Amino acid sequence: MVQVERYKFSGIYTVVDREQKSIATKSLVPGTSVYGEKLIKIGEDEFRLWAPRRSKLAAAIKQGLTEMPIQPGSKVLYLGAASGTTVSHCSDIVGPNGVVYGVEFSQRTVRDLVQLAATRPNILPILDDARHPTRYAPLVSGPIEVVYQDVAQPDQASILYENLRAFCSFGAWGMLAIKARSIDSISNLDEIYSREIAFLDSKGLDIVENINLDPLEKDHRFIVCRVTEDMS
Ligand SMILES: C[S@@+](CC[C@H](N)C(=O)[O-])C[C@H]1O[C@@H](n2cnc3c(N)ncnc32)[C@H](O)[C@@H]1O
Repeated sequence: MVQVERYKFSGIYTVVDREQKSIATKSLVPGTSVYGEKLIKIGEDEFRLWAPRRSKLAAAIKQGLTEMPIQPGSKVLYLGAASGTTVSHCSDIVGPNGVVYGVEFSQRTVRDLVQLAATRPNILPILDDARHPTRYAPLVSGPIEVVYQDVAQPDQASILYENLRAFCSFGAWGMLAIKARSIDSISNLDEIYSREIAFLDSKGLDIVENINLDPLEKDHRFIVCRVTEDMS
């Protein structure tokens, strides 16, 4: 028998199916699998299993994330949306009263995101480079409560900060998946993470979580930070 329980974060569930425990979100669009994930129907509700090897946010939860700023009703700016694997789970979590703006600069990839958004009105795809927030600012109706960033670029931390500065105010959250080898292919991993964290710290952001995603995502760290100072 399949068992579903609420997880400690609002909008996230634990599903136990034949002794296999997974996290899941309640689907906004029942009957549709976005990336081949398993669907579990319980009464009127359908749950989408959230694969930690396919989504760094799921990996961070599995590795012990304690603060989850993305909640029902949240306004999220997601940088590096790709075809929408993690965005689709964020869309389930924020629900009909929230919104996920998905920024992606690959034209080919954004087509899948646009298709996904056609069935999920709370996803708003933006084809642009996350390094230029002023270009897409007219498309974003602020303020944004959470900037999520997974672009795997050398200037990841600065991209996160510039977007927080453009769209957020005091109390907003940043979530960053650092891919060490996109930043520096030689240095020691801890040195790379320390440099990125020092950069965020120097901008006045409060580092709330620092989670090692190994072995689910090799050479990745997941950082949660918070705006606690004026960024103007
Ligand atoms: C690791 S993938 C993201 C996976 C996605 N976050 C998920 O979990 O479903 C990184 C994505 O960021 C995009 N990207 C990289 N640099 C970018 C930039 N400067 N602006 C917008 N998108 C960017 C890439 O095209 C790629 O689709």
